[in-house]
Amino acid sequence: MLEQIKAIDNLEKLQELYSQTFGKNGSMTARLKEMKNLGEEERISLNKEKDELTAAFKTRQTELEDAAMMASLATEKIDTTRTPAPTATGKIHPFTKLLADIGRAFETMGYAMAGGPEIESDWYCFEALNFPPNHPARDMHDTFFIKGSDNLLRTHTSSVQIREMEKHGAPIKIYSPGATYRKEMDATHTPMFSQYEGLVIDKNITFANLISEIKIFFGKIFDSAEIELRVRPSYFPFTEPSIEFDIEWDKKTGRPAKGTGTWIEMGGAGMVHPNVLKNAGVDPAAYQGFAFGAGIECLAML
Ligand code: PHE
Repeated sequence: MLEQIKAIDNLEKLQELYSQTFGKNGSMTARLKEMKNLGEEERISLNKEKDELTAAFKTRQTELEDAAMMASLATEKIDTTRTPAPTATGKIHPFTKLLADIGRAFETMGYAMAGGPEIESDWYCFEALNFPPNHPARDMHDTFFIKGSDNLLRTHTSSVQIREMEKHGAPIKIYSPGATYRKEMDATHTPMFSQYEGLVIDKNITFANLISEIKIFFGKIFDSAEIELRVRPSYFPFTEPSIEFDIEWDKKTGRPAKGTGTWIEMGGAGMVHPNVLKNAGVDPAAYQGFAFGAGIECLAML
């Protein structure tokens, strides 16, 4: 059966064989039901067989999904050498326009812009954000370290949180857009990309404020009253609790819409971890707040 799994060349057929094997009336399911009547050796061998089959199905599924992704990327190629029809006026680059829209949205909500260096220290990018040295959460960031120094290319704009709280203390309400870098390069990732994030620290800031700010922000970005937000539990060392958030989307109109059942992932967020406040010189007994952030290029594509 292992050979048969490896030879399957499309996801539907794989799903079919999986159901025939592990489904309600599957061959393996039937054998597993009889497990209790087997001797110890046979039981061990059946378990081993089950694990091998499960792994083989999983591997083949990933291979076929990757192949499908590569195929669709190959057919969706854009001819970047084509000369566009001449226009009299030209246009602002969509990225530049979005950057201005993000700034305008935050500023009408009372956030002040804050910048930070792209060559950053380990302290600001990781350690002060509650990623201790050797913490496994560092694996979430593929980092460009700078040889012979403690510096690196910042992997996210969250480093600006610490720098700004150090400078201005609390309360604080800032947003920070800018370039970020990760050692990633494939069809859907580039080593340089851009992020923006908002940070609010004050007395009596709650998770409800976070949710409402995200909704208001995207309402402004998409100029829409139809923002439906879905949040999923996640993990970032610098927020607790942490979430990722999605917006309900209409693929036909390319706009946010309620009730479509299609969700698009938009970013990460959470309540700022007390250790982060402490590291930036803010008293976590007196202040709390939230941060939310996301990529700019992916938003520009939407
Ligand atoms: N910095 C996180 C990332 O790059 C996103 C994030 C920002 C999460 C702010 C929580 C709060 O993935």
